Amino acid sequence: MGGVLAKADPAREAAFRALLATHNGAYLNVELPNQLRQLSHQDAAFATELAHGTARLQGSYDQIIVRAAGRELKTMQPAVIVVLRMVAHQLLSMRVPAHAAISSGVDLASRVAGERTKGIVNAISRKIAARDLDGWLAQLPGEPLAVQTHHPQWIVDAYAQALPQAELEPALAANNVPAQVCLAAYPGLCELTELAGEPTAYSPYGVRAAKPPGEYPPVAEHRAGVQDEGSQLVCLALARAAQPGRWLDLCAGPGGKTALLRGLGIDTALYATELHGHRAQLVKQNLSGYAAVGRQSAVLVADGVKPPFQPGIFQAVLADVPCTGLGALRRRPDARWRKADADLPELVALQKALLRSAIELTAPGGVVAYVTCSPHPAETSEVLHSVLEPSVKLLDAPSFLPEVRDAASRADSRFIQLWPHRHQTDAMFCALIGRIAQ
Ligand SMILES: C[S@@+](CC[C@H](N)C(=O)[O-])C[C@H]1O[C@@H](n2cnc3c(N)ncnc32)[C@H](O)[C@@H]1O
Repeated sequence: MGGVLAKADPAREAAFRALLATHNGAYLNVELPNQLRQLSHQDAAFATELAHGTARLQGSYDQIIVRAAGRELKTMQPAVIVVLRMVAHQLLSMRVPAHAAISSGVDLASRVAGERTKGIVNAISRKIAARDLDGWLAQLPGEPLAVQTHHPQWIVDAYAQALPQAELEPALAANNVPAQVCLAAYPGLCELTELAGEPTAYSPYGVRAAKPPGEYPPVAEHRAGVQDEGSQLVCLALARAAQPGRWLDLCAGPGGKTALLRGLGIDTALYATELHGHRAQLVKQNLSGYAAVGRQSAVLVADGVKPPFQPGIFQAVLADVPCTGLGALRRRPDARWRKADADLPELVALQKALLRSAIELTAPGGVVAYVTCSPHPAETSEVLHSVLEPSVKLLDAPSFLPEVRDAASRADSRFIQLWPHRHQTDAMFCALIGRIAQ
């Protein structure tokens, strides 16, 4: 350790830069690809494993670092904290030999945080190396399930409400297994056989990708897209429940579901609204494969709470609302430490407002799909129950996906609740609400 000149280490530097940006508020899934561009295949794979794993277990590593250092994280500079998290991951969860994990961490610290940080990083890293992960976890406070599965307690509590006790541990453990990328072949534009990979268990449009999505020509041509099987299934449920006519995707960006709805709604006029202009552009991009064959859609930048439409004019409205994303934790390694239950009240208020707006826009006889990629009761069943009134009725949503076993929610068997550990999908929630003709 402590050579005169620290060696270049592009894979660890790429992971470091992505994790530091994430520490400062960026999204890892956005930041990491930017950092991987110049790397060899092998370095990119190592950097991805290191960055994802470090982010996923960050809450545990932070507590371990505090104990090893004997001081609070806030007394350390962010670059040093990120380097120590990376060293902890290599020592405790990857098969990197201790001397390599520590010396690379010391070199990295000296390059990114200054020569004078070498001593402290070396000392703390050696203390971390003195125990294995189980040894450290046994020292940490908190409920064993939260500690062992590396989840904040409020997420464990939310899962516990939504699942039978016997499934709680498998569900949390599934969040620690990176998801295979899933593709959707857009109906009428792409045959499943054009997408190399294993077909998904339930969605007739899904394939588990056998190579990076960018290497599939239909994806580049917007005839197919990256889309979790759970997202495909909720579109399918709505399309099966709805009549042709005018359909609206109320919270459309980036437009994966809009594109699949475009394909499923053969005789429909499709509208999409999205609050943010740059995300509305992504919706247009996702629809460009259909636009190229003359199947147009209207994409508007608009607030779904005050939509620019007359009430009661849509046969189908998809309200895929902003949520905590607790159902997609396996695909977003940094997400579980980013949100807190304190974020819920504001999100839930928006979810209720968007759902009320969706119901108002729906014609008598039409149907609303309320969708979240979160199984949290506050964002799912509780939102639904707050908007029930005589002009609406809950449809039996699982009956529209008869091919999917165990799709009913524990809170109410009329809601769909998918799970990674049961269905190998994100934990998507979907309620179908019928507008009663009066
Ligand atoms: C869960 S995402 C939708 C994902 C999308 N349906 C898809 O499958 O690609 C929620 C979207 O709602 C947008 N949004 C947030 N507030 C909104 C509002 N008041 N009106 C319309 N869209 C909103 C967000 O910008 C985000 O793009």
